[in-house]
Amino acid sequence: MRSFVLGLVAATMLIAAPAFAASPQLAATPPMGWNSWNHFAWKVTAADIRAAADAMVASGMRDAGYKYIVIDDTWQGKRGPDGRIHSNKRFPDMKALADYVHARGLKLGIYSSPGPTTCAHYAGSWKHVKQDAKTFAEWGVDYLKYDLCGLRDVMKKRHPHDREARMRMMREAYAKMHEALEATGRPIVYSLCNYGWDAVWEWGPKVGGNLWRTTGDIKPNWDRIYTIVQMQAGLAAYAGPGHWNDPDMLEVGNGDLTLAEDRSHFSWWAMLAAPLIAGNDLSNMQPEVAKILTNREVIAVDQDPLGKQGTRAYSDGEMEVWTRRLADGALAVAVFNVGPDRRARPFHIDLERLGLHGPQQARDLWAHKAVTLSDELPIALASHDVLMLRIAHPH
Ligand code: GLA
Repeated sequence: MRSFVLGLVAATMLIAAPAFAASPQLAATPPMGWNSWNHFAWKVTAADIRAAADAMVASGMRDAGYKYIVIDDTWQGKRGPDGRIHSNKRFPDMKALADYVHARGLKLGIYSSPGPTTCAHYAGSWKHVKQDAKTFAEWGVDYLKYDLCGLRDVMKKRHPHDREARMRMMREAYAKMHEALEATGRPIVYSLCNYGWDAVWEWGPKVGGNLWRTTGDIKPNWDRIYTIVQMQAGLAAYAGPGHWNDPDMLEVGNGDLTLAEDRSHFSWWAMLAAPLIAGNDLSNMQPEVAKILTNREVIAVDQDPLGKQGTRAYSDGEMEVWTRRLADGALAVAVFNVGPDRRARPFHIDLERLGLHGPQQARDLWAHKAVTLSDELPIALASHDVLMLRIAHPH
């Protein structure tokens, strides 16, 4: 009887889950975690990963929802005679590292490429896709970032004059790793990194992607972050539970970003329903930076179960007004001063342009207090700062 019921359950699951689809259960809300690249780049070691896991717990980030500790490029060593990939001497024992991360209630992510080499010229999964997926699963990996990189040269070489053939080759490479991950039987979040090529948001879910990069690399400066934000226009329809647009990992706490810029960057990612993958040195972060990364009211907007990506409602000079519909009928509103003017400048929101009528009771998600939003409310924002509100009952 028991095996009959189990068989029935398995059969229903098979019917319910098409072979090439992103699993909605795996990333029902945008993945949250940390990735080594933005701060440590090619110098990362296993000790840095352990320290990041410890700091994720100590800083309160884990309890605020961050889950994945992702090792980016440059962990790879040589392949053995059997073709099995080994980590290099900076990562002496991957299984032990995964155990360490898991023991802290966190999950481990890793990085590879469908090409022969990665962006940093380490070994990619070319001709070893199934084997690598199996190895990752054996190590206890829960998340894979799969970066196009080295495959671009192969694509060009094979199809120098046929763009469509090159793109097909890319899509097939992403689908192939998805199948290999599925075959391991281990739930592994699948992060596609192809810089938005070939409108990846249109086919990302079909090749099993739970998230896909929409642009080239982020950098820890305002101009690059703002450029990336503008490049998200038109992509909202493609995001939803299980499959998300990824405007790249966070730079909060990196470079020379001011705290106002950190707040804006974090608020935008929340409005965009973007994965929140921190990229700073968690073991050495300023308390103000930790406070931004653990702002639960902003995180709740990002993680809203409806999974509807927000958009820019309108802009007025250097002020931008963004909105995002939330699951319980609430509305998130964010106002950004994107101008270079260091002086605080009063601004008045035009509620009609947001489809709202009259004063609205709201919660200020950065000041953590109640506020009445009306056309008369003077909004004074310093350059690159943000006001983020949640209106529980918009009318
Ligand atoms: C590419 C990716 C980055 C990072 C590096 C590693 O540039 O877009 O996010 O993974 O490769 O080499």
